[in-house]
Amino acid sequence: MKVLIATDKPFAKVAVDGIRKEVEAAGFELALLEKYTEKQQLLDAVVDVDAIIIRSDIIDAEVIDAAKKLRIVVRAGAGYDNVDLEAATDAGVCVMNTPGQNSNAVAELVFGLLVFAVRNFYNGTSGTELKDKKLGIHAYGNVGRNVARIAKGFGMKLYAYDAFCSDELIQCDGVTPVSSVEKLYETCDIVSVNIPATAETKKSINAELVNRMPKGGIIVNTARKEVINEAELVQLMETRTDIKYVTDILPGNHAEMLEKFAGRYFSTPQKMGAQTAEANINAGIAAAAQIVDFIKNGNQRFRVNK
Ligand code: 3PG
Repeated sequence: MKVLIATDKPFAKVAVDGIRKEVEAAGFELALLEKYTEKQQLLDAVVDVDAIIIRSDIIDAEVIDAAKKLRIVVRAGAGYDNVDLEAATDAGVCVMNTPGQNSNAVAELVFGLLVFAVRNFYNGTSGTELKDKKLGIHAYGNVGRNVARIAKGFGMKLYAYDAFCSDELIQCDGVTPVSSVEKLYETCDIVSVNIPATAETKKSINAELVNRMPKGGIIVNTARKEVINEAELVQLMETRTDIKYVTDILPGNHAEMLEKFAGRYFSTPQKMGAQTAEANINAGIAAAAQIVDFIKNGNQRFRVNK
């Protein structure tokens, strides 16, 4: 059995070592493809593998077709919008993610971005504090829950909207559930975007929604750029000169945003939310363990395709 780690953005070495240990203890072989620049390198690397561990790497129909022996792909992380689930299902390939394993890292970066934003990107002028501000958590999944936990330390007032999570669960954490996404944006000074990119959520954060925010509103996005209606956000920020947008996912219109909204817009150059040794170890080793358990015992607990 051959397991390939295919990571354009490599794991920390300590995580690769941990994955190797897990894979070799099962009697499997490990191959490594990191920082590849051409898709052909990926197509070549998958030819003889049974399993692949990826991050945001694109696994489309062409990759799946090139991997004739492939049985399982594990996305070491949460979002699996980078995998063509239909093509995988058609080819009889199991797709899994490793929910929760990197969510603390992402949540910590939310606050890295927020402190930077409220202190005016460290430009020397007087900023504001997070304490007593209303924070809206847009989707109360693994990242959202960690955001809530950390926000309590900052003394923030917490609100959450999640279409799939019960009010009781949100309340248990001392967070106020709100009944609609519109209400969340109307209520909160800051909104942390933690929704996955799906057909329903793509471009769902639009001008109409963001315009509901109170004066000085801040959006912090550590989820996906696809959930933002970028063209509408630009139009809105041109009139709402009080709104700030900070993101860990480089927008499609980064150059335009940078030019138009200096001092109100910031993006990390490369998605850094899950890029910690701890998150790499947790998600990478979980992925390896899930592969071993799937191949040896047929365990499909974290399967995300049919
Ligand atoms: C995720 O979906 O798990 C995060 O967006 C992290 O993605 P990454 O592994 O590409 O950093």
